[in-house]
Amino acid sequence: MEKVYFSFAGHNALTETLVKKSQAGLAEIIVRRFPDGESYVRILTEVKNKELVLVCNLHQPDDKLMSLYFLAKTARSLGVGKITAIIPYLPYMRQDKVFNPGEGLSSTYFAAFVSGIADELITIDPHLHRRSSLSEIYTIPCIVKHAANQVAEWIKQNVPKAVIIGPDSESEQWVSDVAKKAGAKYTVLQKIRRGDKDVEVSIPNSADLKDHTPVLVDDIISTGRTMIETVKHLLALKMKAPVCIGVHAVFAGNAFDEILNAGAARVITCNTIPHPSNQINISELLSLAV
Ligand code: R5P
Repeated sequence: MEKVYFSFAGHNALTETLVKKSQAGLAEIIVRRFPDGESYVRILTEVKNKELVLVCNLHQPDDKLMSLYFLAKTARSLGVGKITAIIPYLPYMRQDKVFNPGEGLSSTYFAAFVSGIADELITIDPHLHRRSSLSEIYTIPCIVKHAANQVAEWIKQNVPKAVIIGPDSESEQWVSDVAKKAGAKYTVLQKIRRGDKDVEVSIPNSADLKDHTPVLVDDIISTGRTMIETVKHLLALKMKAPVCIGVHAVFAGNAFDEILNAGAARVITCNTIPHPSNQINISELLSLAV
């Protein structure tokens, strides 16, 4: 089936790379707001019987979801053959449990939303903590790619004598993989989160790591508290200034600057969410998936 790509909500560079690699076309689609703030969508390219590949930047999703819904429904009304949603950063994965009475499971509800508008989902390192696979909540086929090779390669090229540090037990899955691929040692800390910005991270055992450069690796950097608390511990232990790597540059508020101000040597991310810290390119992973 002929493919046409569209960059939804700001993944232009990534979309252009994917279009070049697949020699497919770019769809001309207008997505804008009416003066009153309601969403307007118009598809100018013929999509009948074609695969429409939407490369979606769903960072801060709530402002974007109605337009995405209208876009998918409009494409269906025009006879689109298939809708593939590439959502490199898959939002709403962390509310995977009822933590307090009266809460719901946003990750499940969001999965139902995406499964209702797309025929296939392609994503990078979704936050699978208490679930082992997206198929537990998504009802469409999902292709999950992992940035471990790309992260490990970046570390090999840029950080001599690295020791990889995972801030919490769930990070072990990707930290161990990255460390193996980078040929580095790793250690995993324990984290207690009491609130959005109230995080406690255990102190690493620094005995045989003092001559190494710590590289903190996490899937998501949001408020930055996880990184900041860990950076503070490492500096208090007189270890070298750490490099912080997150796959997804969520960076709520001033998190990026706050991590640097806490003493991190560098803060690096993958380009799953466009941000100046994007140094690790995952376009090849997505292009293979498509
Ligand atoms: C949570 O379990 C994730 O893996 C990250 O550790 C978390 O989202 C980081 O959040 P923050 O930057 O707000 O500490």
